[in-house]
Amino acid sequence: MSILIINIKELIQVRAKNVSIVKGKDMKTLPTLKNAYLLIEQDTIVEYGSMSDYTNYQADLVIDAKGKMVLPAWCDSHTHIVYAGDRSQEFVDRINGLSYEEIAKRGGGILNSAQVLQNTSEDDLYEQSLKRLNNVMKMGTGAIEIKSGYGLTVDAELKMLRVIKRLQKESLATIKTTLLAAHAIPKEFKDRKEAYVDLVISDLIPEVGQSKLADYIDVFCEKGYFDLDDTKRIMEAGSAVGLVPKIHVNQFNAFGGVALAVKHNALSVDHLEEMRLEDIEALKDSQTMPVALPSCSYFISIPYTPARQIIDAGLPLALASDYNPGTTPSGNMNFVVSTACIKMRMTPEEAINAATINGAYAMGISDQYGSICKGKKANLIITREIESYNNIPYAFGDNLIDNVIIGGKILE
Ligand code: NIG
Ligand code: FE
Repeated sequence: MSILIINIKELIQVRAKNVSIVKGKDMKTLPTLKNAYLLIEQDTIVEYGSMSDYTNYQADLVIDAKGKMVLPAWCDSHTHIVYAGDRSQEFVDRINGLSYEEIAKRGGGILNSAQVLQNTSEDDLYEQSLKRLNNVMKMGTGAIEIKSGYGLTVDAELKMLRVIKRLQKESLATIKTTLLAAHAIPKEFKDRKEAYVDLVISDLIPEVGQSKLADYIDVFCEKGYFDLDDTKRIMEAGSAVGLVPKIHVNQFNAFGGVALAVKHNALSVDHLEEMRLEDIEALKDSQTMPVALPSCSYFISIPYTPARQIIDAGLPLALASDYNPGTTPSGNMNFVVSTACIKMRMTPEEAINAATINGAYAMGISDQYGSICKGKKANLIITREIESYNNIPYAFGDNLIDNVIIGGKILE
């Protein structure tokens, strides 16, 4: 199957193949080509250029994109879309005055989701998760990372990872998988956190490494969850079987997790709502991508990640959704990009860079995704007729999308 898109008003995020990350001041630049065409064969972008250089191409399908723009599909590098049920009651409890921490202390929060997931069949979990995946794909997400972490037993964590594997097989989306067994201390291990960390290290990590059920290892490094020593032990055990760290850190408290993750060559550090100067310093000259999750800040009313401080220090930044039942029941990357501009003072160029090429970097796939480039995968958004790409974040709450192409196929 080949698709030819002609008369593209502006082709956005056109980059050389060797650009895999954009940092600091460079994030203000979003390279584009006006009045362009693009040719897809199978699942790959094979050609693009200016309409003035256009010579007739043959294709199975020709799309006239007059007045419309084309950009890479969103690369959402941090989600928890495999979960069972929802936590809408906790949402109401928070409106009535309870905090996220208070709800967690009462046995709600992650432990609530774990209990429901443990009692949900693998098929049912798959069906619930597939609906969410299909929904975010329609909103322009083409590549996505999905974490475990609502199982909290060896069996239930493996069940989650098998569901992610099945999504990988059945869906057009590109999926990367993260083992987040250290997401909360299970009820059965209350006051015996060490024993749970031991179990994760001795039973789960080796099994996951061997069966190749995950690419990455994550820890919720936070007061009341897992401390620096737990995080270090789990990262080391993960690295030993080839799982690269991607760490939840600095969501509510900053106490050295960023530097620790950087030291262990984490691919990304995610959340960062609480940042100290030394956390910024630790990220300089590292290969670790800071990742902001503005929809989480929005939904649970916590500070936004200080994007200006991070980018102005010369660092890169990626944006992701954090789609999960507790802190972010939305995987809409259009809203993420808008919120980053509105609340974090990122420019549209910075936000689009952060949600495409840098998001791909934070999943280890920026050689294949995140920019318009010959030889990269054909994951694309075709917008409605719009005046400028600034309208994408400007029209917050709306998705200015006409069509989504993932793996070279147009979504119905
Ligand atoms: O990224 N912070 C930890 N994990 C999730 C929330 C988990 C939940 O409340 O279910 C997050 O925000
Ligand atoms: Fe998360």
